[in-house]
Amino acid sequence: MRKTILTGIKPTGTPHLGNYFAAIKPALEMAKDENFASYFFLADYHALTTVQNAEELKANSLELASTWLACGLDPSKVLFYKQSNIPEIFELTCILNNVTPKGLMNRAHAYKAMVEKNQEAGEDIDANVNMGLYTYPILMSADILLFGTDLVPVGLDQKQHIEIARDIANYFNNKFGKVLNVPEEKISEKVAVIPGLDGRKMSKSYNNVIPLFCEENKLKKLINRIVTDSSDPSEPKPTDSFIFKLYELFANEQEIKEMKTRFENGIGWGEAKKCLFEKANEVISPMREKFNYFMSHPDEVNKILNDGSAKAREIAKANLAKIKKAIGVN
Ligand code: TRP
Repeated sequence: MRKTILTGIKPTGTPHLGNYFAAIKPALEMAKDENFASYFFLADYHALTTVQNAEELKANSLELASTWLACGLDPSKVLFYKQSNIPEIFELTCILNNVTPKGLMNRAHAYKAMVEKNQEAGEDIDANVNMGLYTYPILMSADILLFGTDLVPVGLDQKQHIEIARDIANYFNNKFGKVLNVPEEKISEKVAVIPGLDGRKMSKSYNNVIPLFCEENKLKKLINRIVTDSSDPSEPKPTDSFIFKLYELFANEQEIKEMKTRFENGIGWGEAKKCLFEKANEVISPMREKFNYFMSHPDEVNKILNDGSAKAREIAKANLAKIKKAIGVN
């Protein structure tokens, strides 16, 4: 039987290079394998924990869907849908709430980080914590468990969430019999952490991102802003520098080898940044064109998502029926 892979991204902002290399690209590569049935979706109810503005959520969702499509998602091969279109996910969330120990949620990273921040600021520990954030891992477990997922391709930051989904599946199965498939994460180690402009992990919360589809000029400007040292152009440059690491993501083996030699022989940072920009732009340009096309054809994007949602929903309904039978409500 074909294995099921499933992944989602929440539409909270403009997708950046980190999202592309750590999450989108590895997932799309897995989806090319005919041995996998693939489910990719927009986790819009997850975004609602922070994006509480209709226009913004709509715009973010269009941008994220257009990104997936521009990067090569083929809706005839991948079930591509919006979480909010599948009410069965929320019904399952309600069921899973009852087998999930509260303590498990207390240990979830995102919630714990908020608590720690509040403690440091001398605030009430639950200040600014809504129940969406607190129960985030349960909704995510429902996303995964409803479709009998085997593998979840995600970035390293999501590892704990998949472990929680596994725990919840086991709690359920111990009570009600082996109904839920127990999933595993699939993390591409090589690209687990993409460096941002300041060398820390590329992340919106560090304000150090390079948007995936920013215009050519902006891309050039951002690359020029990447922090480097003040060594002389004739001096060898480290191949574990951020510039080299970013170059590696875009280039093929031969190009990487050649650039390595140039770095070892001494290259000015200005020249290295120029090479990085040119290579990045060459790879991104064709995708950027498609992205711009989808952004200006929202009806086409919505039709793709609605068609995918209708198909996903059929499967969701059948799977939920089995789960409801197991707990004794039908
Ligand atoms: N938490 C993920 C993120 O922040 C999004 C997500 C929601 C997800 N549900 C999922 C990822 C299920 C994989 C599987 O991007």
